Amino acid sequence: MAPRLSSPLATMLVFSACGLVGLTAAWDQYAPTCEEDIRAAIMFREANVNRSARWGSALKSWYGGGESCPHCADDPCGSHGYHGNWEGLECRGDWVIEDGWSRWSGQKSAKGPCKKITNFHLPDRGLEGPFPEHLKYFPNLHEIDLDSNNMFGELPEWVACMTNLIEIDLEENDFTGTIPRAWGNLPQLEEVEVDDNPQLRGCIPHGLPANEHGGKVSFSSDPKIGTSWGGTRINGQRCQNAPMPDCSHTKIPEDAPMPSKGTVPSHGGDHHAPEGMTPEEAEEYFRQKLEETNRVFSNP
Ligand SMILES: *[C@@H]1O[C@H](CO)[C@@H](O)[C@H](O)[C@H]1NC(C)=O
Repeated sequence: MAPRLSSPLATMLVFSACGLVGLTAAWDQYAPTCEEDIRAAIMFREANVNRSARWGSALKSWYGGGESCPHCADDPCGSHGYHGNWEGLECRGDWVIEDGWSRWSGQKSAKGPCKKITNFHLPDRGLEGPFPEHLKYFPNLHEIDLDSNNMFGELPEWVACMTNLIEIDLEENDFTGTIPRAWGNLPQLEEVEVDDNPQLRGCIPHGLPANEHGGKVSFSSDPKIGTSWGGTRINGQRCQNAPMPDCSHTKIPEDAPMPSKGTVPSHGGDHHAPEGMTPEEAEEYFRQKLEETNRVFSNP
C-alpha cells in the first residue's frame, strides 16, 4: 500500500520544496535589518539627534520605516535597494572578493537571515563635534564617510576595532592630532582619505593602504584609492602600527534599546495598512500581502 502512495507524496514534496524556495527568495527582499545593527543605529540616533539642528536634520528619517512611515517597525535597510530607509545608512549585502575582484553581493544574494548595515554615509551636512563615538557599536560597517563636515578633535583608536572597514573618508574636516597607529591593523582597508584637515600631522601607520593611486571601490565614484592626505601637516613618512587597542567597549551594551515594533506593522516601510485597522488586523493584512507576493514570486 505504501508504495502506491509514494508517488503522489513525492510529487507533493517536490511541489512544497519549490514553494519553499520561492518563499525563501521573497523573504530575502523583505528580511528585516539585523537587530544588533538597529540597536546600534538607535543608540547613535539618541546620542546625536539633539546635538544641533544639523544633526537633527541629518537623522530625521531615522525612525521606523523612514520618513514615509516613521511609526512602522524599525527597519533601517528596508526592501528597496541599498539606499535604505534611514538616510545615510546603507545595506549592500556581503563584500565579496573573487578572483581578485571585489564587489557587493547586493541584498538579495547576501547570506544570513537579516540585512546588515554596511555603509555609514553622512557627508556634506555641516555636522559638528568630535568623531561620533557611537559609531563603534555598528558591528558590520565597511565604510564610514563623514567627508566635508565640521568635525574636530582627535581620531579615536577604537576605529581599529571595526575590522570590516574598507573605506574611511574624513576629508575636509578639522580633526587634530595624528592618524592613530592602531588603524594600521585594519585588515581590509582600501581607502583612507584625510585630505584638508589642516591641523592633522605626523606619520602614516605602516598598515594603511599604499599612497593614493588609481583604482576603485564599488561604493565610490572616486577614481583613486589608497591613503591621501593633501592639505594636512602629515609628513608622508610611514611609521609602525601600534598593537590593537582594547575593543571590549565597542560591544553593544546589554541595556541598549531594542528595535521599536512600531504601531503600524510593515514590511519595507512603504506599505500602509488601511485606515481604522487595529494593530492585530494590520498585522494579518500584511501577512496576507506577503503571502500574495510569495505566490507571485514562486509562480511567475
Ligand atoms: C530631543 O529633544 C526633543 C525635544 O526637546 C525631546 O522630545 C526628545 O526626547 C529628545 N531626544 C533625545 C534622544 O534626547
